[in-house]
Amino acid sequence: MSNRAMERNILLVFTSPRKNGNTSVIAQAFCDGAQSRGAVVHRIDIGGKPIRGCLECYACCQDHQGCVQKDSLWDIYANFHLYDAVVFAGPVFFGGLPAQMKAFIDRLFSLYPGGGSKDSALLMTAEGGEETGLGGMSNLEAARLGYQTALHYIQWNIQGIVIATHLKSYEDALRCEARREAYELGRRMGG
Ligand SMILES: Cc1cc2nc3c(=O)[nH]c(=O)nc-3n(C[C@H](O)[C@H](O)[C@H](O)COP(=O)(O)O)c2cc1C
Repeated sequence: MSNRAMERNILLVFTSPRKNGNTSVIAQAFCDGAQSRGAVVHRIDIGGKPIRGCLECYACCQDHQGCVQKDSLWDIYANFHLYDAVVFAGPVFFGGLPAQMKAFIDRLFSLYPGGGSKDSALLMTAEGGEETGLGGMSNLEAARLGYQTALHYIQWNIQGIVIATHLKSYEDALRCEARREAYELGRRMGG
């Protein structure tokens, strides 16, 4: 088998509206790690795109032709079989997943069953920390659980979750420990 055939193909779904914000630092660290092991990372930016959520029409269940919404997600889903892993990157919004990430995940419904199992990971950034949530609960728990629950339904394998916290500035993102964690996760998933 040639090296090319053994490369891991990773889809990075970048969902921050800020292309060069905090999440981009963590996402780039992941890409660097994965590429250092020879993986090919295909990055798509959907943070600023007008993407609608699932219409709950169930047409995909009846005709098995995928989602009826022929937008930018359609093109991505059409090539889904090419990817070994799908990694999500985005900011924590009100304790949960940002809307574009949730829309992408919800619309995976149109691929299942039949979409195949994938490895996956979650990369997030937050201004606060675990301690700043409602009534003493973690500020980040809803984001983590939202992702874990969705992946449980579609039966993907979670390879890691990295959340960079206490980021008041871009410089904080550059020097945070999570950046190194994201790099290591990339190395692990890329090899
Ligand atoms: C609408 C909105 C909601 C946010 N909610 C939270 C939150 O619940 N917890 C938190 O720690 N930070 C929250 N933040 C801050 C962002 O998650 C944080 O600044 C993140 O690193 C931004 O990433 P970016 O620079 O890639 O956009 C929020 C920011 C916005 C705009």
